[in-house]
Parts: sequence; structure tokens; C-alpha cells
Amino acid sequence: MNASPLAVHDDGPEGVYTRGAGEVREWWRVSLSERANLFRIEHGHGDAATGKVDIDTVVDLDNLDAKLLKWRREGFAADAGREDEARAAEAGSRFGAELRLAAASAASARAARRGAHGAGSEVRTVRIGTVDVPVAQAALNGAPASQARVPRINDAYLFTARTDDIAMDIVENRRVMLIGHTGSGKTSFVEQIAARTGHGVLRANMNGQTTIGDFVGFWTVKGGETVWVDGVLPIAMREGAWLVIDELDFAEPSILAVLTAVLEPDGRLLLKERGNEIVTPHPEFRLFATANAAGAMSAYRHLYQGANLLNEAFLDRWRVYLFDYLSKDEEAEVLRRTLPQLPPALAPTLAAIAADCRAAFAREDLASAFSTRRLIDWAELMLRTGDAERAAGPSIYAKVSAEDAALIRSIIRHHAIFDADPGAR
Ligand SMILES: Nc1ncnc2c1ncn2[C@@H]1O[C@H](COP(=O)(O)OP(=O)(O)O)[C@@H](O)[C@H]1O
Ligand SMILES: [Mg+2]
Repeated sequence: MNASPLAVHDDGPEGVYTRGAGEVREWWRVSLSERANLFRIEHGHGDAATGKVDIDTVVDLDNLDAKLLKWRREGFAADAGREDEARAAEAGSRFGAELRLAAASAASARAARRGAHGAGSEVRTVRIGTVDVPVAQAALNGAPASQARVPRINDAYLFTARTDDIAMDIVENRRVMLIGHTGSGKTSFVEQIAARTGHGVLRANMNGQTTIGDFVGFWTVKGGETVWVDGVLPIAMREGAWLVIDELDFAEPSILAVLTAVLEPDGRLLLKERGNEIVTPHPEFRLFATANAAGAMSAYRHLYQGANLLNEAFLDRWRVYLFDYLSKDEEAEVLRRTLPQLPPALAPTLAAIAADCRAAFAREDLASAFSTRRLIDWAELMLRTGDAERAAGPSIYAKVSAEDAALIRSIIRHHAIFDADPGAR
């Protein structure tokens, strides 16, 4: 017999094709007809073995091929495929249970080690999400020099569910890369953990400003003497500060090459320019990077002109986290926390406007992203002027193209916040 090229079974198109489950389950059954080269097709709802047949007809192979294609488009799948899926899900949950057990015992081993440590030395921690992140030694000693680099705590900062894995990576001294659109909270996330644990933060932005000299250091003449000036990387490594390399996908190749050497947890830096001095990392040194268009964000590369593709071997040296914008509820919460004077009903509306603008951006109807920073700034200006439209001028419209401004204005109008009397809210 001639097997259909579209058949899901290797041995021919016969079988049951279904979509939906339970009450709404719908099926087509294909079997060989008594007549040569023809197939019988039946249709029904519910259980194919016992359900009522409402269509029962005979077709030739060409006709059947067309039907198979149509069914597939409509979401029907061969029942054999479903059995495979069910088996895979079952196997998955079996491994899932074993994995959860293994993770739980690793966690209790970690806790035991911490307990043993805690008996002798003083390791103070701050709880971030559900993870205890150690406080900087310098903060405990009150060393003023490095304290100057500790970011200020932003009380309005909202740690969401995405926090825990990354906080654990910090404890384990993993290199963390946060990828996501501009203004989604990548840099401030690292800063706010550092702020709460007393770690100094140094930042280097790779989009244009930072040269290899700024990064590793350079020789210069001071008062007739030639002196070496450390760049941000050796400063952070020696002091045990946290280094955040912003927009790493814009870095020049020479910087990426230097970086590769220190990506191992105890990776040391070789200062060739300084007679091959070796800089060993302070135990509290941590390295973070943010990027807009690397890895899973590569599809957005056209929005970040000049961004380089980071190769997989390089990416494999990092834990890479996709940092999406906050959800509507989370963003409304951030607005309420940041601007307590904001009329309560306004926060969810503003968050919904931001979400709509982002959806338009994802559809490529808008060329500009809508960051949490922009939303907060607009709300702040709205509070000062009492006029949402006027406030949108300097915080939104003037930053985007005329077409984008028009579309954003219509999205805002749609949420009807211009005409309402601010006093009535
Ligand atoms: N989870 C959050 N809680 C509170 N504010 C946030 C949060 N995420 C972002 N923001 C606000 O957005 C601003 C921009 O975030 P930032 O970290 O600079 O973004 P990115 O580095 O992704 O461009 C922050 O300064 C902060 O005001
Ligand atoms: Mg940033």
C-alpha cells in the first residue's frame, strides 16, 4: 500500500486524529476501505471508540492528503503522537521528583555548611527573596573608602520571583548576565542587592564610552612621573566591589578578550601593560553584565544599532537571565511605592498604558520601547503639573518619532486619563 507522505504513522495514514480533550474532544478516524486504494474517514466527538459517528465517507489518497493537511492546520494530531507526549510527560515528572529531592538535599547541605561556619566566624547575611546573601566585610568593619561605592537603597524597588536564582548565583560566585530591553530594571536589580548587602558597585558602560584603557588601566604622566592608573576591572577585583558591565553587546573585542580570562570564579587578570602583573580577585568581587540584544534577545538586534552578537562559547561562561518588563500588577505596585501621592486608581491605568505600548512595540507598530523609568518619570511630572498630556511631552513624546508619539497619544487617550478631572480620582 502507498503510505501518504503526510501520514503521522510510518506505516500509513490509518488511525485516529484528535483535538481537544474530554467533552470537547473531536476526532477523525481513518481506516482502509474494502475498496482498493480508498480510505474510509469517520468523524465524531468524545471517545472515538464509543462515540457517535456523524460523518462517514470514503476518499482516495489525494483527497485524504488534503484532509490530513487541513486537520493538522486545525490542530488535530495523531493519537499515537499523544501517547508519546503522555509518556514523555510521565517520564518528565519522574525525573522532576528525583531532581527536586536532589536539590533539597543540596540545599540542606549548604545550610549545614553555613551553620558550621556561623559557629566560628561572623557571616552576616541579608535576606533577598528567599536567599541569604552575605553582607560585605567592609560594611561590617565600617571601612569608609569602599562604602562610598555602595549604592543608595531604593525602598520602592520590587524584588519579584525572578530574584531567587540570581541571588543564589551571587552567593555561589557565578557570573550573571541579564538580558532584556532597556529600562526593564537590569542594572538597578544588581545595585539594589548590593545596596542592601553593603557591597560597592562599579559600572562600565560599553556603549561608546569605555575604552580598553578605561577598562584595564593605563600609564600616564603625573607631576613628571609615569604612573599606572587601574581601570574599573582591576579596581573592582582588588577592592572586592561588584562590577556591572552595562550593554556588554556593544563592547569592543579587546575588552571581551580581557574579560574571558576573569570569567572563571577565581579567574585572574594579567596586566600585560604593567609587566604582566597578576591581579587575583578579592573573594567578594562579583561580575555582572547587562545586554539588550544578546542570546534570546537577538531577534531585537535591529532596535539596538551596533550591538554585536555574543558568541555561544562566550555566553556559556555566564548564567544568562532574560529580564522582561514587570507585569502590570508589579509595575502598578512600583508606581504606588515610588510615588505614594499618586491617586491609587491611576497606578493600574498607567501600568496598563505601558503594557499596551510594549505590546505595540513587540508588534513593531512602535519603534521605541516603553521603560519603567519612562513610566515613573511621566507619573512624577504628571503629579507636578496635574496634567497628564503636558507631562507626556518631555517624558515621552519628545523622545520618540512623530509617528510613535501619535500612536502613544492614542493609546493614552484610549485609557481616558486626559479628560478626567484629576481631582475627582
Ligand atoms: N523591580 C523594580 N522596582 C522598582 N523600580 C524599578 C524596578 N525595575 C525597574 N525599576 C525602575 O526603572 C529604572 C530603570 O531601571 P534600570 O535598572 O536602569 O534598567 P536597565 O538597566 O534594564 O536599562 C530604575 O531606576 C527604577 O526606577
Ligand atoms: Mg542598565
